[in-house]
Amino acid sequence: MKTGKQPAWLDNAIFYEIYPQSFCDSNGDGIGDFNGIIGKLDYIKGLGCNAIWMNPCFASPFGDAGYDVSDYYSVAPRYGTNADLKRLFDEVHKRKMHILLDLVPGHTSVAHKWFLESMKAERNEYTDRYVWTDSIWEEPQGMGCIRGISDRDGSCAVNFFSHQPALNYGFYKPDPAKKWQQAMDSEGAKATLEALKDIMRFWLRMGCDGFRVDMAGSLVKNDEESKGTIKLWQNVREFLDSEFPDAAMVSEWGEPDKSLQGGFHMDFLLHFGPSHYNDLFRCEEPYFSDRGRGDVSAFVEKYLENYEKAEKKGLICIPSGNHDMDRIARGIHGDNLKIAFAFLLSMPGAPFIYYGDEIGMRYLENLTSVEGGYSRTGSRSPMQWDDTNNAGFSAALAEKLYIKTDDSVGRPTVAAQLGDENSLYNEVRRLIGIRQEHTALQSRGEIAFLYAEKNAYPFAYLRSSEKEKILVIINPADRETSFVCGYVPKEKIYSLAGEISVTDGKLTVPPCFAGYYAV
Ligand code: GLC
Ligand code: CA
Repeated sequence: MKTGKQPAWLDNAIFYEIYPQSFCDSNGDGIGDFNGIIGKLDYIKGLGCNAIWMNPCFASPFGDAGYDVSDYYSVAPRYGTNADLKRLFDEVHKRKMHILLDLVPGHTSVAHKWFLESMKAERNEYTDRYVWTDSIWEEPQGMGCIRGISDRDGSCAVNFFSHQPALNYGFYKPDPAKKWQQAMDSEGAKATLEALKDIMRFWLRMGCDGFRVDMAGSLVKNDEESKGTIKLWQNVREFLDSEFPDAAMVSEWGEPDKSLQGGFHMDFLLHFGPSHYNDLFRCEEPYFSDRGRGDVSAFVEKYLENYEKAEKKGLICIPSGNHDMDRIARGIHGDNLKIAFAFLLSMPGAPFIYYGDEIGMRYLENLTSVEGGYSRTGSRSPMQWDDTNNAGFSAALAEKLYIKTDDSVGRPTVAAQLGDENSLYNEVRRLIGIRQEHTALQSRGEIAFLYAEKNAYPFAYLRSSEKEKILVIINPADRETSFVCGYVPKEKIYSLAGEISVTDGKLTVPPCFAGYYAV
């Protein structure tokens, strides 16, 4: 896949997502922090990941785990200081790795000083920073709102939870009957966009390598086809091209055909949106379950559609999971997790591994919500390093932990898996190593699907670069399958569980199998 201007390091980037609360607590207060992360950078590098996305770490009342920012320019004291974060950037760079911060452009916390000013009755610099109706009795349709807590006479639209007021980037087609709907080129909307650029400037100057952008598709209102939001991001792209051409941008949008037009380098396939990503790992009959009752065809069809539209523009990224969805190990078990990674690590785009997925960390059922996590809380439990106190995450008393650790029997830990050749950790590390040796498997190698039939197994595709062609065969089902694909495997690059056999051009694939072959 050819791309436009892209930071060169994305060609072979493999990301590791860190939820800073839960990764490593260096000072025993029960919550993860920057110094803890610094201490584990060699672990991440040892796995083979060369890039990091860290969830929001800014000042916040934590009604949504930090996605409710109250000051974009200061980190939350619980993680350390701005200087500590700068040191994290430096330590990452020393290891020839890169790090993205999480930018939340769509909304702030109600505690942000912009919002406090915006709630005042008298006009000021922040009056138009958010989307307000001009009467408390009028609600912004279809958006949910905050009302009745301001001197200002109006209702403020919200972007997600009801404590996350929506920043004003304007309406794509303001309704003339509703004077409060401002255009994208109104002074207020333009000022918000400039404020966003200032925030980006601040962190990029300090040394971060780019951003994962939260709810990137949500900014312009009344924008059904996202044309206004795409235009807005194109404006940001111009700014980045001129001031920070090496900054990498990945969107939480889930529609690469749109986000990449907006100038993002990468977009995620997600548990929401049209991608059929859930068909793989998170539905009643996931394709990667060994029950073998899944269907990969709708995913592939949609993927191809995006792939064709995204060509030359950017990368489609498939995450193992993230802080918003159930852990992959909730629905996929045993060696099938290895098969899932053999897929994730052989697809185009940059792979994203959610912390702990590389050891198969479990989803913790029935936890009481922490900081607006609700059902997501079970995917945010502390990283399991070893079998010492709190799984090596923290020296605090267990009841002081941010979220409780998985204390079930046989819970996976890094320490146990490092020493076990057959562990998931070591398989993921091997697969990353193989990807790094083969350009065909990397971000920009091309893909052609060879076998992805409705309700059928296996699943096969060809990855190719100028130098090589690699056939990938994936059979998560616990039964032997066969297919014809027009290619005969030559040299084996990787295989999990057994060997395929070829008779008259027909390939027979063992149960629960993944393999890469040069052709
Ligand atoms: C994104 C984040 C999620 C957050 C929401 C609101 O989906 O990933 O964690 O709650 O946006 O910011
Ligand atoms: Ca701490």
